Amino acid sequence: MAISQVGLALHLIQGRRRRLRELDFSVTAPRPLAYRVENEEMTNDTYLPGAKYVLPYTRNEFERLNLQHKYLSKTVCDGRLIFDTTIDLDEKSCVLDSGTGTGIWAINLAKELPESVEVHALDISDTNFAPDHPNNVHFSVASVTSLPSGWADKFDFVNQRYLVGALLAKEWPVVLSEFYRVLKPGGAVQLIEIDLRSPTPETPISVQTRDAKWKAFDTLGLDYGVAGNLAKLLESAGFVEVVDEIRRLPLGKTWGEIGVQGTISIGGAFRNASESLVKAGALSSNEEYESLMDKLEAEWDLHGTSYACNVVCARKPSRHHTKQPII
Ligand SMILES: C[S@@+](CC[C@H](N)C(=O)[O-])C[C@H]1O[C@@H](n2cnc3c(N)ncnc32)[C@H](O)[C@@H]1O
Repeated sequence: MAISQVGLALHLIQGRRRRLRELDFSVTAPRPLAYRVENEEMTNDTYLPGAKYVLPYTRNEFERLNLQHKYLSKTVCDGRLIFDTTIDLDEKSCVLDSGTGTGIWAINLAKELPESVEVHALDISDTNFAPDHPNNVHFSVASVTSLPSGWADKFDFVNQRYLVGALLAKEWPVVLSEFYRVLKPGGAVQLIEIDLRSPTPETPISVQTRDAKWKAFDTLGLDYGVAGNLAKLLESAGFVEVVDEIRRLPLGKTWGEIGVQGTISIGGAFRNASESLVKAGALSSNEEYESLMDKLEAEWDLHGTSYACNVVCARKPSRHHTKQPII
């Protein structure tokens, strides 16, 4: 019997999913500097940027981030890397990918643009940096809360995606004012975040897991609903032309291949966050968390769940928009 194209795609993705699950979870790659310093030299009360990040630095997470990139480019950005089609980068442009992870967004952008474009890819940890990348992708290790002082007015475009599980609520305004500082006048920023409050429809397990994760995020000081606040935060930081678009992330088999990819990408993130979230009080054990995730994914397959994802674009005012002192 001929296998339909969708059936074949599902089969391949399920096979890949099995392979991802078979990857060695016990081999944890080195933690970012913040963890190492904290564990070795500092007390439990000392906070360093990135220390509350809920996802691990494992091979499985590396692969998941790269898969998630493909899924998000399709579902959120209509296949593009830059959502706003009016953004025009030329051969002299300079771009920053903030909290770059593996660097997949930066690497793909560099492949689309002339080699003279400088693409900076910055993260608090170098653990996931892709070893192979175009020469014009420059990786660096720093916190997005404190970008290099020499970067003032340097960038034409700043991208940041999926730091909801990394930045403390109180760090978001700091990060956006750093973006304002490092952008050229007239430069643009793009922020992409899932709204974790928004599973639709609100089925029993989706509500239970949403609330358990929410509690853990609150305990850690993270902002569970930051996606819905980004536009206001950007305005408060001085940005103009703020445009907030909401896209839906399809999850579960009902949506076909893209929904299965969604389950691997987003469900995979929920699963990989298990250890951090259980420690922060989401549920009483990893086993309980895993079993809830199994039920959650079964619900996604049954109901065709989706989450909201905000893509928020804005500009730093150009020089002629900057307020002049009154004489
Ligand atoms: C979920 S990953 C997203 C990676 C990438 N933006 C993407 O969409 O593929 C979040 C990344 O933020 C990084 N991160 C966490 N806290 C950070 C901080 N204070 N400064 C810079 N990067 C940070 C983590 O190390 C991780 O690589």
